[in-house]
Amino acid sequence: MYCLDIDTFADSNGDGVGDIQGLIGRLDYLARLGVTCLWLHPIHPSPNDDDGYDVTDFYNVDPRFGTLGDFAELLHQAGNRGIRVIIDLVVNHTSDQHPWFQSARSSPDSPYRDWYVWSDREPADRHQGMVFPGEQHETWTYDRTAKAWYYHRFYRFQPDLDTTNPEVRDEIKKIMSFWLQLGVAGFRMDAVPFIIERTEPGDPNPDLDFEFLTELRQHVQWRRGDAILLAEANVEPDQLPAFFGDSGGSANRVHMLFDFMLNGRLMLALARQDPEPVIEALRDTPALPEGGQWATFLRNHDEIDLSRLTAEQRNQVYEHFGPEEDMRIYDRGIRRRLAPMLNNDRRRIELAYSLQFSLRGTPVLRYGEEIGMGEDLSLPGREAIRTPMQWSYEGNAGFSRAEPEKLVRPVIDKGDFGYDKVNVTLQRRDRNSLLAWFERMIRTLREAPEIGFGSTTHIDVPMPPGVLAHRADGPTGTMVFLHNLGAVDAEVDLSLLQPEAELPIDVLADRNYADIGKLDKLNVAGYGYRWIRLRRAWSS
Ligand code: GLC
Repeated sequence: MYCLDIDTFADSNGDGVGDIQGLIGRLDYLARLGVTCLWLHPIHPSPNDDDGYDVTDFYNVDPRFGTLGDFAELLHQAGNRGIRVIIDLVVNHTSDQHPWFQSARSSPDSPYRDWYVWSDREPADRHQGMVFPGEQHETWTYDRTAKAWYYHRFYRFQPDLDTTNPEVRDEIKKIMSFWLQLGVAGFRMDAVPFIIERTEPGDPNPDLDFEFLTELRQHVQWRRGDAILLAEANVEPDQLPAFFGDSGGSANRVHMLFDFMLNGRLMLALARQDPEPVIEALRDTPALPEGGQWATFLRNHDEIDLSRLTAEQRNQVYEHFGPEEDMRIYDRGIRRRLAPMLNNDRRRIELAYSLQFSLRGTPVLRYGEEIGMGEDLSLPGREAIRTPMQWSYEGNAGFSRAEPEKLVRPVIDKGDFGYDKVNVTLQRRDRNSLLAWFERMIRTLREAPEIGFGSTTHIDVPMPPGVLAHRADGPTGTMVFLHNLGAVDAEVDLSLLQPEAELPIDVLADRNYADIGKLDKLNVAGYGYRWIRLRRAWSS
């Protein structure tokens, strides 16, 4: 799965903002990379105070991106290339500019008044539960026009919808139906734990209404049987199963969840050059119901959220990956891309992505990571990692023909990550580029259904420091993976696997290893990795 924001991907009409036609023009690039599902960040009209996560019309596309007609064309063109498209569904809140909120605040008699969450008095939990500490100071704000306090989990311009209201529930279903009818393959559901909160003034820990997720799942399934719900639910691991739901062993709420727990532990493991946190993450992963799946990621469009690590662990990650105050955000995270965090060390970038892609679940890759883009810390907040895609060494990185000052965000044009050094065209011409490597790895992954469909387990035998061995067992056979998170070359003894092995071979590795077939003496270079097919099942 590949995610991008239309506004920073490709600008076809030269107005400085990426658009749908620009994206259509790049679908072949995505197809060649091996993408089979595209997740688009919010596409709707928006004042863009939170990069589109503040919607003013759920039934349209942002006019800067094009029209609904363009969007239908995108779905058609993507489908032709075997790419499904899912869109962000941001229904925890609307923009305060949304006509529903404007009507709601204008009068207690407005038909939309009860679509939002109000309190006549100042709630005692006014200063609790902020998602953006430092940038957000309260979760209840007094609205003078409404003469009441409204609730907002996120920024004050994002009033929460009251999802206990049956009319709101129906409207959300209508929104989903609309986009499914147009041909989207599902939704990345934003902020799901907050959508299902039964908020009451003064209660900072409201109940969660999981039945609403069951309802949405049923609705989506009736409308399009193969559509998916991929939820953002950044909660403790023991709370995750309830989001999948369980009906006779099968998931009956969302199909997929982002694996935030794994994300934090991966960052810790990479910082310490020690696989232990990943081993813990594998051990602590709750069992999946039938039809449930994880979505794994190293970087997404937000900060790296380290809030589930201990203070000591968080400090270790900060020390390696966010040593300067300016690289950190919200008292819990890092606003950088992966390549710069790993000092642009090609070995470590490959290692990190090889590890992510070989673990259970569906890997999600963010635009620009496949060429090793960097961040621009001079931009505010999370914008640092939301700069335009670097296509070539033409002006504006080939992203747009507009005057540079008209660009939606400046392109990175300085230093090691400037577009003269990091761009698609350059890497296209180089068979050893990071882009070429990603293409090869993704192809290999697609030939290895053990990873996505099978079970992933840590191989618990004595290992040299820094080395992780894990295996994936699925209907098509068994694969074994070695990842050396440390800098020192290592030799690994996996002879215990000998009885299962049938001519083990590397299907992907950081280099050619001569020790093929000898499981008792497997070499793996410092920061090296090997994907070994141990056994292929010819029938299952
Ligand atoms: C989610 C999004 C984030 C957005 C927030 C509010 O956490 O990932 O980008 O700001 O929701 O919608």
